[in-house]
Amino acid sequence: ATLCAISGALSLLLQVSESTSVAAAEEEQQQQLPQRIYGLLDKLSCGRKQPPDASAKFALLLAEFLIKQKMRYVPPTRYERQLYYHLLHRMEQLKSIPNSANLSPIEMQSKLLENAFQRNVQLLPPSLKYGALNANAEYEQLAMSYESLVNRGQPNRTQSDLCMRDIVTLSVPSCKLSLQCLSILTSEQEAYGYQRTHQVLLLYMLQHHKCAARLSPPRLYEELGRLHCNEILNEQNAIRSLALGLGSYKDLYLEQATICGLFGFNEFLNWRNVMEVDSWYPDKPDEQHIDDLALVYYTNALLLLH
Ligand SMILES: *[C@@H]1O[C@H](CO)[C@@H](O)[C@H](O)[C@H]1NC(C)=O
Repeated sequence: ATLCAISGALSLLLQVSESTSVAAAEEEQQQQLPQRIYGLLDKLSCGRKQPPDASAKFALLLAEFLIKQKMRYVPPTRYERQLYYHLLHRMEQLKSIPNSANLSPIEMQSKLLENAFQRNVQLLPPSLKYGALNANAEYEQLAMSYESLVNRGQPNRTQSDLCMRDIVTLSVPSCKLSLQCLSILTSEQEAYGYQRTHQVLLLYMLQHHKCAARLSPPRLYEELGRLHCNEILNEQNAIRSLALGLGSYKDLYLEQATICGLFGFNEFLNWRNVMEVDSWYPDKPDEQHIDDLALVYYTNALLLLH
């Protein structure tokens, strides 16, 4: 516990900043990202439930996957290699804390999800995409009714969990995906908030599954990702325009940025958002889901923003 306290104090010290220009602020962020990630990993190993819950484990899996994907396609410098291996090692340790013997149904589900991004995965070249989305769509109307729209659409929690299970348990060579799951992924019906982000996360998981190419041409995943994230960009613009600021939408905002950031869209993965998320930490230190999302978001920023 003492060690945890010390490393907590250290990461606080590292956050103190007196930047003068945007460029200086970005450079500083760049240097501090590894510390932020270590800070979140420390929090996972010290403060929270042991073993890490399903959401934390999923975040660890995803962060590891991003690092491996990057290393596979872009030869790291010596410094990067050391950093990446060290991060992977810490993440692996956290993931391997054993579950209890008697698993509840929810734990069973999470046990199953431990297979996500493990077997039958396909690593793809990661890249940052500039200007691929439509940044100038009208969002004022959406902003006015956002509160009532945000729970609309599919998939709901149950549907989303089932579809995720279907994707994780897909097997080569049959690659048979349920119709319900396929229809969730390709639906162009109205969806907002977490319903929409779950749609995109499921799409990303399928896109990186060995079965992806058997189910549809690679370009289709990209195109669907672009369509969904265009809608999500509108939601983010609407949220940002609200008089109270992000307010109660912080968790959703970061989920949107994290998931569309996985596709490399610069509108979501950028220094402005890194700084935005950083600015929440002094007064919002203990929201687990935000920490889990931030772990993935910061890791992706570390890998793709230069
Ligand atoms: C989720 O949606 C399905 C299909 O519309 C519905 O049958 C089910 O009751 C919903 N579940 C929840 C928890 O809302």
